Amino acid sequence: MTQDELKQAVARAALDYVAEGDIIGVGTGSTANFFIDELGTVPNRIKGAVASSEATAARLKSHGISVFDLNQVERMSVYIDGADEINHRGAMIKGGGGALTREKIVASVADRFICIADASKLVEVLGKFPLPVEVIPMAVAVVSRRLTSFGATPALRMKDGKPYITDNGCHIIDASGLEIIDPVTLEVKINDIPGVVSVGLFARKGADVCLLGTADGVKTLMF
Ligand code: A5P
Repeated sequence: MTQDELKQAVARAALDYVAEGDIIGVGTGSTANFFIDELGTVPNRIKGAVASSEATAARLKSHGISVFDLNQVERMSVYIDGADEINHRGAMIKGGGGALTREKIVASVADRFICIADASKLVEVLGKFPLPVEVIPMAVAVVSRRLTSFGATPALRMKDGKPYITDNGCHIIDASGLEIIDPVTLEVKINDIPGVVSVGLFARKGADVCLLGTADGVKTLMF
């Protein structure tokens, strides 16, 4: 099976977690896109969705799915999204697609985080994938120095020769070279740096379930 076929298989499996008439949270990225396309096959199953990015909102709407502003929604049963890395305790690195802050906000309102990922995302130790950190533009240098003091090699994310701009008008520093043994502590430490909007470590509130796409089928990991 190709990686895309694995992503499609977990996206389809995630539909089982979507209850009739619900408002659900929807993530960002290629796996989340497969999930949105699956939702598009049953557009009337849910009342609507809260999107974690402008791109996701546009894709949901293209399938005729109502998109709610988070300020209109008090709670959601599930948030469904991919991950760049996930460990055996459900802690994740996210933000490869740049939507980490909105992903964290929307996920915080959901009772359960359902992670959908192909098997390549499951790791023993987080950190091989550079850790995205969203920062206020004026704080790029100071946050980079602090990340260096934590043992990381920071790089300002670029797009078309210019600093990448998030949906929130901020920049992203990708911190590579970290071996994240204690994700909860590192999440708190990085969040605490003035100028950081959010860090792409989802450890304090990680995944509750991971639907992992493998050559032997979709495996369900519960945390
Ligand atoms: C988007 O900001 C990310 O958090 C994605 O959810 C994550 O990068 C996984 O993306 P893929 O499904 O494209 O691998």
